[in-house]
Order: sequence, then structure tokens, then C-alpha cells
Amino acid sequence: MLEKFQPTPPDPILGLGQLFKADPRDNKIDLGVGVFKDAAGNTPIMSAVKKAEVILHDSQTTKTYKGLAGDEAFRDEMRKLVLGDAVAADRVATLQTPGGTGALRQLYEAIKKVNGDATLWLSDPTWPSHVAMGKAMGMNIRTYRYFDQATSMVNFDAMMEDIKGIQPQDVLMLHGCCHNPTGANLNADQWSVITDLLLQKNAIPFIDIAYQGFGDGLDEDAANLRAMAARVPEMLIAASCSKNFGLYRDRVGCAMAICDSAEKHDVVSRNLAVLNRMNYSFAPDHGAALVAIILGDEVLNAEWQRELTEMRDTMLTIRQELADALRLKCNTDRFDFIAEHRGMFSRLGLTKEEVDRLRDEHGMYVVGDSRINIAGLSGGRVEPFATAVAAVLGG
Ligand code: LMR
Repeated sequence: MLEKFQPTPPDPILGLGQLFKADPRDNKIDLGVGVFKDAAGNTPIMSAVKKAEVILHDSQTTKTYKGLAGDEAFRDEMRKLVLGDAVAADRVATLQTPGGTGALRQLYEAIKKVNGDATLWLSDPTWPSHVAMGKAMGMNIRTYRYFDQATSMVNFDAMMEDIKGIQPQDVLMLHGCCHNPTGANLNADQWSVITDLLLQKNAIPFIDIAYQGFGDGLDEDAANLRAMAARVPEMLIAASCSKNFGLYRDRVGCAMAICDSAEKHDVVSRNLAVLNRMNYSFAPDHGAALVAIILGDEVLNAEWQRELTEMRDTMLTIRQELADALRLKCNTDRFDFIAEHRGMFSRLGLTKEEVDRLRDEHGMYVVGDSRINIAGLSGGRVEPFATAVAAVLGG
């Protein structure tokens, strides 16, 4: 049987990490996978997380199973973190999942189960796994235009032209904030226009929010999602704690389904829990327990928010520095958009050949679509990167 497996193509994001590791050059820079890096190039454990681990270590008395849907305190804190008070708690069914990807998977499963003919509309471009996972599950996928190559901003007219074809009960995925891979985000007015369309078409919004706190602030990054949630009868949300808590490998995520009435809540909740049972029984507990401790403790919560603010400010500073350095070195304003973008990534608009040359000639590891991880430039790496981009563009 197993001889039937064919070699797999490298993952567009994770494959780059293998190449980077194998590169012997000292001055190489990794701008691939989306993990925060400090000035030394390390991805530190947040101090609030370390303290929560001590609390957990000292207070945990058993490792027995929790409920299938996961830890209640964690799920309730996540609901508050993402939705604030936009929607009554008794309309929101929640499920603890292994990472934000696990939340996406479970919500894809839910769509397939109850709405198998629906089309899932994804932005072009989007995070590659959004597409790959849907295709692997045999879902109907359509993409809508999103990114204007010429301005490196959202092409809202083209997006609206495409999604006006959305059918009743189709699902429209939006990135809650910090669009991955482009860094170009919809504004509040545009979210409101999209909400009008979804209401008119009786279609369902599905928000992937994996970078809350990395754009403009925890509440600011959730504001558009919350405004939409307050107006629509139903919504799906996949939230991740990988980035804003730095809990990448611990796999902490939460799926949420907003129901049109509190009466539906219990049956939706139980169905989501069954999806956990069908796929892996229980989501991992450790990281979720840490998040519940941090969010539920005033002092730790404040400490975590301070650290998150520091990370965000680092990225915002790098954005401005990089835009300035590229303007100077490349003698063009074509990269000014980097300072306008928000989140961990920007798509630079370089050709595949230019991306290859950045890697081969300069040791700069950028994802193939020219997406860079802004945090990878901390610790004085802006200058050498801008110099390499100028060299590649210069000939
Ligand atoms: C990324 O886009 O780099 C992150 O979301 C990590 C991943 O799993 O791809």
C-alpha cells in the first residue's frame, strides 16, 4: 500500500526553513515562516507565559480528560478576547482546537457536514493552507480578487465585483486583521459594505483571526470583526494563540460559531464537540490552560499585553525603517506601502526571479510570492536586506 505514496512538493512556507537551515552563510536572513523574532533572532517565550507555566505546574493535580469541547474557562476568555461584548455569550458556541489551523479544519468540517454544496470564497491570495485544506477535503472553493499588484493595497472594487456572485448559504472567508500574505487590510467602511452584501445575499462570514494584537492593538484588530458580528445572524471564527501568545508549538486555538439565537447554541456546541471526537478526541490542554490563566488574571493579563505591545511596536518601527531604507537605496517610492500595511507580513511585489536572486546571491530567504516576515528584520537587519533588494532591482 505505502508504495503508492508519491513524493510531496515542499510546503511553500515551511520548505523555506529547510533551505535556510542548510545555508552555511553567516549573513543569511530568514524572512519565511511567521514567527516573531527578537533582535538576536530568537523567538522568546513571553514572560507572562513562563509565569503561567509555574502556576499551572504548582496547581495542577491531574491530567485526566476535560470535556470534549475543551476547557471552559479558556473558551470563555477567548470569546471575550475576540468578540468583546459584540454578541450575547449565549449565542456563541466555542470549541478548543489544536491551533488556529485546527479551528479552521473543524469549521471546514462543520461546513461540509451541514452545508456540503456551499462554496467557500477565499481571497486571492490567501494563506496557502486555506486553499490546500479545502481542496484536500473536497470542498467547493472559489477565490475573489483582493490585492492590487500595482498599488500593493486592497483592490476593493474588484473584490466586490467578484463576491457579488456569492450565493445564499455560501461562506465568505475574511482575514480578521493583518492579512496573510499581503499585509493589506480592509478598512471599517469596506467591512460594513461587505456586511451589507452578506445580509442581502444570506451568505455566511467566516473570519480567520490569527494575528490579533499584531496590527494596531487587541481591540483595534478585532473592531471590524465585532462590528460585523453585531449585525449578522451567523458567523464562523477561527482564532489562534500561536502568535499573540507565542505558543506556536503548543497548538492553541479556538473555533467559534455564532448562532442566530440562543436556542441553537446547545445543539451547535454539541455538534462541534463531536467533530473533536471524530478527529482526535481532545485538543491539547497545556497551552490553552496557560491562556486561560493569563487572561483570567489581572496582573498577568497586563504583563502579557505589555509584551504584546512591545512586539507590535517592534514590527511597526521596522515597517517605517524598511520603507525609508528602500526609498533611499532603490530611489523609488514603490515600497512606501510597507509602512501602511499592518501585521506580520508584507508582500513586496518582487518577481519570482528576484526572490530567487535574493536567496541565492544574498542569503535573504523570502517566500516565493515575495512575502516577508517583518519581524525577521529586527536587530539591525533592515539595512542589509534593503541593500540586497536594491542590488537585485539594480541589475
Ligand atoms: C505563516 O503563514 O507563516 C504562519 O501562519 C505559519 C504557517 O503555519 O504557515
